[in-house]
Amino acid sequence: MDPSDFQHFGRLNDPDSCAAIKGVCGDEMEFYLVFRNDCIHDVRFYTDGCEYTGICGETAAKLAAGRHIDDAMGVSAAMIRKEIPGLPEDHIHCSILAAMTLMKALADYLYRKSIT
Ligand code: FES
Repeated sequence: MDPSDFQHFGRLNDPDSCAAIKGVCGDEMEFYLVFRNDCIHDVRFYTDGCEYTGICGETAAKLAAGRHIDDAMGVSAAMIRKEIPGLPEDHIHCSILAAMTLMKALADYLYRKSIT
């Protein structure tokens, strides 16, 4: 995986929310979100996984970027998969890991907002 292929690859030092999940294969993914008026102003992901994991993370980030949180919650593994027609059967779990990590970061934002 070449991180320079991905526009949203990396970590943020002071995000409004973040999440990390280890997938069933042992690969990890992280998502970092910055919000403005409940819209995703900036999004980054990081993974130590294979190329498909990176492609799925980048696709999830692209689908989430600029969306209101209510719309971003609609980003699913199925949507990610649809954007990657060549995603092999044995890497579908990569799209699930990307969607799950994004969802956890959205939940983190909602939780932090509820306690401030
Ligand atoms: Fe592990 Fe893609 S191979 S998440």
